[in-house]
Amino acid sequence: MTAGHPDTDAGRLPRLDLPTTAVRDSFLAGERAICAEDGTPTAWLDEAAADFGSLVERRRAPRYRWGVPVTELWYVREPGYLGTVMIRHELTAALRHDGGHVGYHVVPRYRGQGHATAMLAAACDRCRADGMTRLLVTCRTSNVASRRVIEVNGGVLDNQASGICRFWIPLLPQPAPVPDPDPDPYPAGAFVASPSARIAFR
Ligand SMILES: CC(C)(COP(=O)(O)OP(=O)(O)OC[C@H]1O[C@@H](n2cnc3c(N)ncnc32)[C@H](O)[C@@H]1OP(=O)(O)O)[C@@H](O)C(=O)NCCC(=O)NCCS
Repeated sequence: MTAGHPDTDAGRLPRLDLPTTAVRDSFLAGERAICAEDGTPTAWLDEAAADFGSLVERRRAPRYRWGVPVTELWYVREPGYLGTVMIRHELTAALRHDGGHVGYHVVPRYRGQGHATAMLAAACDRCRADGMTRLLVTCRTSNVASRRVIEVNGGVLDNQASGICRFWIPLLPQPAPVPDPDPDPYPAGAFVASPSARIAFR
């Protein structure tokens, strides 16, 4: 958290979901801060501000970028936009070199709070549910924070060349819940009406 930006929403749990018009102002401000950091043009943000609904509609729809089908997801802690995850459902030769299956960024003022780590974990869950079995994730060798995000999410370094690290994250199936050998006869929420037992909502 940057000094001067108290994180008043810190108690709420963020969610990774499709783009939404609900975070218009914080999305525009956050992406403007990222453009300023990267020195990239902001004309697209002026267009987005003029018709945010259209931007959201386009980004929610199935679409192709980098020559592959992508899903764009926004990380949101109501009512604020925290960052974006881009899932690329296939790889090209270029993406195998740099880009991989998943890209992400966090708005500068929300960095260093574990959001990227949680975003990538949520993206892994989503990809696993979609039937993907492993994810290629790449980052610049110098990007210490991104490297850490990948490693904490189980990334295994495959190779490192031309200033880029390539990691594979295995998406192991989630283990099935183990049946309780001694189940509670009065589970929470059950109405118990036996005269010889408790009568209660638990
Ligand atoms: C890289 C980025 C996504 C990290 O986001 P973040 O929300 O700050 O990451 P987290 O808070 O989850 O931190 C992840 C780890 O990196 C560490 N970290 C965060 N910022 C760091 C920094 N500037 N230098 C070194 N380590 C850093 C954290 O301590 C944490 O390590 P830990 O798990 O050992 O505690 C963010 O800096 C960003 O958006 N950068 C610009 C875009 C980008 O580089 N995207 C990735 C492309 S591959």
